[in-house]
Amino acid sequence: MKTKITEMLNIKYPILCGGLYGVSESNLVSSVCNAGGLAFLSSNHLGNKELLRQQILQTKKLTDKPFGVNLSLLSESKSNLTNEYIDVIIEEKIPVVETAGNNPTEYIKKLKNENIKVLHKAVIAKHAKKAEEAGADGIILIGYSAGGHPGMEEVGLFVNLTETIRAVKIPVVAAGGIYTGEGLASALLMGAEGILMGTAFAATEESIFSIKIKNKILNSSSSDTTVVFKSVKNAFRCLKNNLTLKILELEKNNASAQELFKYLSMSDIKNSYINGDEENILIPIGQSIGLIDEIITCQELINNIIKQYEFCIKNYVL
Ligand SMILES: Cc1cc2nc3c(=O)[nH]c(=O)nc-3n(C[C@H](O)[C@H](O)[C@H](O)COP(=O)(O)O)c2cc1C
Repeated sequence: MKTKITEMLNIKYPILCGGLYGVSESNLVSSVCNAGGLAFLSSNHLGNKELLRQQILQTKKLTDKPFGVNLSLLSESKSNLTNEYIDVIIEEKIPVVETAGNNPTEYIKKLKNENIKVLHKAVIAKHAKKAEEAGADGIILIGYSAGGHPGMEEVGLFVNLTETIRAVKIPVVAAGGIYTGEGLASALLMGAEGILMGTAFAATEESIFSIKIKNKILNSSSSDTTVVFKSVKNAFRCLKNNLTLKILELEKNNASAQELFKYLSMSDIKNSYINGDEENILIPIGQSIGLIDEIITCQELINNIIKQYEFCIKNYVL
């Protein structure tokens, strides 16, 4: 399969795994890359540039394929660290960076000077256009079904994707609610150059999510996610549980941003994904959980998508 994204990133399939806070570390990232896709290491949860370097070196031991790093530019992220992460990315010759959460303009120049590709995550066409003007090499367009931060605008992928492809000339990758080869085929037929998934990879065997969280995902339908923090303009889609019910109630009662954000900045989120009580932690996850009925490896997931894609193209496309 050749698309502008497989060519740009030198990968077999146009299937990407987005940065997953606390989850996309060396094990998961290398598995995706060895299966023919490309994944982004999460940097935001590490909190220290040398820990990022360790993750990069460990990933290089586990795969000889290209992989990237996610830079979260959200205001709650420790932005002074972003430049330090970029230094490590340059020193370790990482070929591609995924920027997310805010305007990437100030960082793009530094990355482009080193020939590092920048794919910027946007939730609406207007932001995609801005990132293109700032020099981004591609857009990852996030529809409202996505896990994590799906944007405040609540636009579904079918509309959002077409609007964005019309607005920019650089390649667009579709994300938000994709789990199947039908999803890949649709995205490519609509003019996208690839897909990016988060929820799908967070629910694989390699993911650090505990068995309890994975079982909760298996028993969920697409309506079992909810979006919290809309009242503080930081929409965050996660699994419905006791904690999200409590947060929604606080928001209804006009809780302050300070009160709400203490739930977002949990100190040891990674440990809570491994050992925590699945009813009382925030678990970012998208609506595609409704399509997940088995926990499989990243390799099996990508193989399934390619098989379904080929079936789909052969049987449904005239
Ligand atoms: C567990 C989890 C953690 C995530 N953490 C981040 C993150 O730290 N930075 C980021 O840019 N996106 C993050 N995301 C969003 C994903 O990278 C991706 O954009 C999104 O999951 C795509 O939509 P999907 O979940 O429908 O596949 C996260 C998503 C999940 C499910």
